[in-house]
Amino acid sequence: MRYISGILPLALFVLPSASFAQMKAYIEEQPLAKTDEGQFTAYTLCNANGMKVKILTYGGIVAELWVPDKEGKLADVVLGHGSLRGYLAGHPYFGAITGRVANRIAKGKFTLDGKEFTLATNNGPNALHGGKKGFDKVNWTAERDLSADKGLVLRLKYTSPDGEEGYPGALKVVVTYTVPFAKNELRIDYSATTDKATPVNLTNHSYFNLAGHNQGDILGHEIQVFADKYTPTDDTLIPTGKIEPVKGTPFDLTQPTPIGKKIGDIKGEGDTGGYDLNFVLREGKGEKLAARVVEPNSGRVMEVFTTEPGIQFYTGNFLDGKDIGKNSAVYKKHAGFCLETQHFPDSVNQKDFPSVILKPGDTYTQTTTYKFGVAKK
Ligand code: GLA
Repeated sequence: MRYISGILPLALFVLPSASFAQMKAYIEEQPLAKTDEGQFTAYTLCNANGMKVKILTYGGIVAELWVPDKEGKLADVVLGHGSLRGYLAGHPYFGAITGRVANRIAKGKFTLDGKEFTLATNNGPNALHGGKKGFDKVNWTAERDLSADKGLVLRLKYTSPDGEEGYPGALKVVVTYTVPFAKNELRIDYSATTDKATPVNLTNHSYFNLAGHNQGDILGHEIQVFADKYTPTDDTLIPTGKIEPVKGTPFDLTQPTPIGKKIGDIKGEGDTGGYDLNFVLREGKGEKLAARVVEPNSGRVMEVFTTEPGIQFYTGNFLDGKDIGKNSAVYKKHAGFCLETQHFPDSVNQKDFPSVILKPGDTYTQTTTYKFGVAKK
């Protein structure tokens, strides 16, 4: 593999009837390496406020996300590696698209239309995040859409062949990242079509630390999850199939709560040293507010809106200091949190959960928007 160092000149574009914000916004293209899997490239979407999002064709990884604090100072609020080489060496899904089926499938098995399918078990006895080479490890094809009037658009495409990682059907996937010209938001639209019935559950696995990716743990962040129910699990994090109220449990995050406040009360099955659980979001049409997180010192606020019925709140319980990230950051336990908008884990084996089966002729869609701001005082 050959690595090209340095940043190539900016690819700037301006639309004819562009607003001021539109004229200031740009997408920078940075070739990273060329291998037999094609060209690996990084794209940085930078809006008129200086908000910047760096996305890699490898895994669709959100490698950097710069947003201002209450003083207007930018910080990179996602954990990740500083180089492509770092990601290729392996990592706990930092910033990546996970699929074809994000989260867990019990024992790596499911039956569809009378046929049993067997997947690789890559997480104890279960299948996790699409298998050995899930969508997080694929080099996606990228195109910038210069015609969009709403913002900077980067579209990633991948066709997962029939039988890949044991899943049926060739699945055509498009993931579109949009950063509005003047609003500090990252919107991700996912869509997929198939030629055979197959399960699909796509999400993004960014680890956030709103104080900055290298600023210690996230236990002081205040979180609110707009969910009254959750899906309890066994000790391998497979849902029991029940849907239980959060009331009276450490999972009641319906009011703003410091992440560290009840984390020590999580006991028994499903305890992996913090939150790692699917919450059942309140029902609503279109994109609904799923979670709000405030980092009190910087004042940074992130709101997550989604069309999905569930969200996995994971507090980086398995981070152990072995992942050395950007600027030599050492990511220890609880260095970041994930809010993975999704269908519920193991849905393919749970008849009472919303279905994840996509049929030929139908289109899978999911939209999630991360909105950034600062707390009003
Ligand atoms: C998901 C899972 C966690 C863990 C991480 C990756 O969030 O729910 O249990 O596997 O991915 O480390």
